[in-house]
Amino acid sequence: MMKPIPYGRQNITNEDINEVVKVLKSDFLTQGPKVKEFEEKFAEYIGAKYAVAVTNGTDALHLCNLALNVKPGDKVITSPITFVASANSVLFCGGEVDFVDINDKTYTIDLNKLEQKLKNSPKGTYSGIIPVDLAGYPVDVEELRKIADKYNLWIIEDACHAPGAYFTDSKKQKQYCGNGVYSDLQIFSFHPVKHIATGEGGMVTTNDEKLYKKLKLLSSHGITKDTDILNENHGAWYYEMHELGYNYRLSDINCALGISQLKRAGESVKRRNKIAEKYNKAFKNIEQINTPFVAGDVYHVYHAYHLYIIRTKKRKKLYNFLRENNIFTQVHYIPVHFQPYYKKFGWQKGDFPVAEEYYEEALSLPMYPTLTDEEQNFVIDKILEFFK
Ligand SMILES: Cc1ncc(COP(=O)(O)O)c(C=O)c1O
Repeated sequence: MMKPIPYGRQNITNEDINEVVKVLKSDFLTQGPKVKEFEEKFAEYIGAKYAVAVTNGTDALHLCNLALNVKPGDKVITSPITFVASANSVLFCGGEVDFVDINDKTYTIDLNKLEQKLKNSPKGTYSGIIPVDLAGYPVDVEELRKIADKYNLWIIEDACHAPGAYFTDSKKQKQYCGNGVYSDLQIFSFHPVKHIATGEGGMVTTNDEKLYKKLKLLSSHGITKDTDILNENHGAWYYEMHELGYNYRLSDINCALGISQLKRAGESVKRRNKIAEKYNKAFKNIEQINTPFVAGDVYHVYHAYHLYIIRTKKRKKLYNFLRENNIFTQVHYIPVHFQPYYKKFGWQKGDFPVAEEYYEEALSLPMYPTLTDEEQNFVIDKILEFFK
């Protein structure tokens, strides 16, 4: 019997372990040199000016909402097909969440429906939008920026699934997810199933120096030692608290692992694309399976394939069949407005029909760089057997 095959898993090498051990033997377990190094190297990888390492992706989202001054009464739009944290982060600040249905092909927020909603709402109804690069498919943030500017919205791009992905914009420039050319703030997660694993961990990227400074301040109790902004200075020990901040700092232990993982990140995305190609080919002639959308030449997209999501009307039966065969697929995601907590706000079944139909059919197949050919062949064979 094949050993259990999950939908995603981390890849920890001996080099990763050695890098972590070095930190454990060093003087700084946290607030040491590895944090800055990880921030700088990650910013370079993504193509953004600044990066702030934080405790996880959820805290990254919370910080962004704080930095953009989300407060009670503010309304923010996101996709119903995302992890709950994308929406929750607005509630943390007392804001209100609204949703716009997804595009039936890309499964990211439908920009036409977004524009319709904004057009039909009184001016100033919304403060911002949190688009999600679902599965690693980049949101067209160039188009989104135009809409956002028209309605005076900020953009926090939830790029948790998409480090290494890019789209080619109208000026034929490659725009890496999270590089901040079109969005204000971008966030990532380093949870073990993601592209880069640090245990728990996250990152915010931005090109805006003011926002960067604010994020740094808020991620460490709102405390500063920056002599340029201190009100007084009693000596080298002196610090001041200027904002009500949090302790969202990532440790040097986590950052050392992140730096080591980052070295393989580009290669890993390539491997994920190879795995996706093989799945695409294998399922090409199965009418009952819809493979992920692949963009053509006009709007060229390099997918990061955090997830490989197929759609089938036989989702539940397939899920159970694969499970019986030790293949553990997953469903990403249950629409956020279906969650009991969100139903309290009045959301109902039928509010976002495209997302809801997607939820009935979506299944994430095993997708991670160390998935062997033998394992992938086994997954494919079992799926072909199911549909025979
Ligand atoms: C789209 C999305 N947003 C936010 C998060 C939250 O990240 P974390 O688990 O690191 O808090 C995740 C990951 O779980 C995610 O997939």
